[in-house]
Amino acid sequence: MLAYRKNELYCENVSLETVARRFGTPVYVYSRARLISNYKAFDAAFEGLPHLVCYATKANTNYTVLRELILQGSGADITSGGELYRSLRAGFEPKKIVYAGIGKTIAEIEYALATGILMFNVESMEELAAIASVAKRLKKTASIAFRVNPDVDAKTHRYISTGTGKAKFGIPYDEAVAAYRTAAKITHIDVAGIHCHIGSQITTVKPFHNAAVKIEKLRLQLQAANITLRYVNMGGGLGIRYQNEVPPTPRELRDAVVPVFKGFTGTFICEPGRAIVGNAGVFLVSVVYRKNSAGKNYFIVDGAMNDLIRPTLYEAYHDIVPVKKTAARQVQADVVGPICETGDFLGLDRTLAVPEPGSRLAVACTGAYGMAMSSQYNSRGRAAEVMIDGSRIVLIRRRETYADLVAVERLGRE
Ligand code: LLP
Repeated sequence: MLAYRKNELYCENVSLETVARRFGTPVYVYSRARLISNYKAFDAAFEGLPHLVCYATKANTNYTVLRELILQGSGADITSGGELYRSLRAGFEPKKIVYAGIGKTIAEIEYALATGILMFNVESMEELAAIASVAKRLKKTASIAFRVNPDVDAKTHRYISTGTGKAKFGIPYDEAVAAYRTAAKITHIDVAGIHCHIGSQITTVKPFHNAAVKIEKLRLQLQAANITLRYVNMGGGLGIRYQNEVPPTPRELRDAVVPVFKGFTGTFICEPGRAIVGNAGVFLVSVVYRKNSAGKNYFIVDGAMNDLIRPTLYEAYHDIVPVKKTAARQVQADVVGPICETGDFLGLDRTLAVPEPGSRLAVACTGAYGMAMSSQYNSRGRAAEVMIDGSRIVLIRRRETYADLVAVERLGRE
């Protein structure tokens, strides 16, 4: 989505300098074409099979991003009442929404049941009981899949690895058959499928395959016990290239997983987040100051860990490139934000041409878990978001103002 034309960085047909001038920085910029082609790659990978791509909205919940995916036929994977609200507002069909998460509250369960979502991905027996009791009260039937923890190591960052026996997610593999037997007997519960999600930013097909083998084994055991599942949901987690990773394509993922479920005639669900929106986004910042402290170069920019926390939280690598290439001297520098924490950096020890104050840098592959994980820390309003469509530039979320920072606060004494 990013390419230099005469030393200037473009997203589709728009120069990023133009975006920065028009909307200011820091700003997230998304390529509509890339977003859609990423979605289509998933949809096409499952061609010929009953399937549903449920975009993991947590990766990026911008209204326009959701709208664009809906227009392509996407479903949604949600993890909260807030994500359900956003998904419905954007127009996702309730029957294409799956709801995961280990701590769904009664209010959230009521909301989802009243909405008529496709199914709950259930993570504990207490949650199952709660869903059953709400369903009974509302005179509804809740469709469920158990999220089963297959105890497979996804070989990714420990904070985003979810499928090992030690993670807080899902029903332990060895308890799954008993869980299904119990659920099958409960009125107001429709046992619809099986779900597993082993982690995020996974860059080989092996863990997906290993998890599929275990899930299929379980499915066959359940079938033998007269519990027939209509949906197999292998979650999300497909990685993208941030630095030098060579992640599998959606097609390669399908080829590693689908053949495992030989006799299965139901519907496959997948829940990609990062792989759909990650490389469709770039985070633009301006250089405020340069300084050298104790022999180290710092480029201080106007974007920070409140805007993009991935480098700080996961030591994640995002490429940082100049919006205008210059012939200036190349040096090694830390690209840091203005927040009062040593952990506030976007990149460490990067080789970059010394930028002039006011010039822009682009932080690549920030469409997923960028804006979605942003905060107002240090009372910094959240960044603006812009979508590029060919030569069109559309503001899809305005920058937060000082008034926005205090809009929901009340004086305790009043
Ligand atoms: N399904 C479930 C149940 C999930 O928990 C997740 C992500 C997904 C699907 C989508 O996974 P993806 O395709 O995006 O890998 N904030 C972290 C990533 C956390 C992922 C949490 N769950 C990061 O910035 O790397």
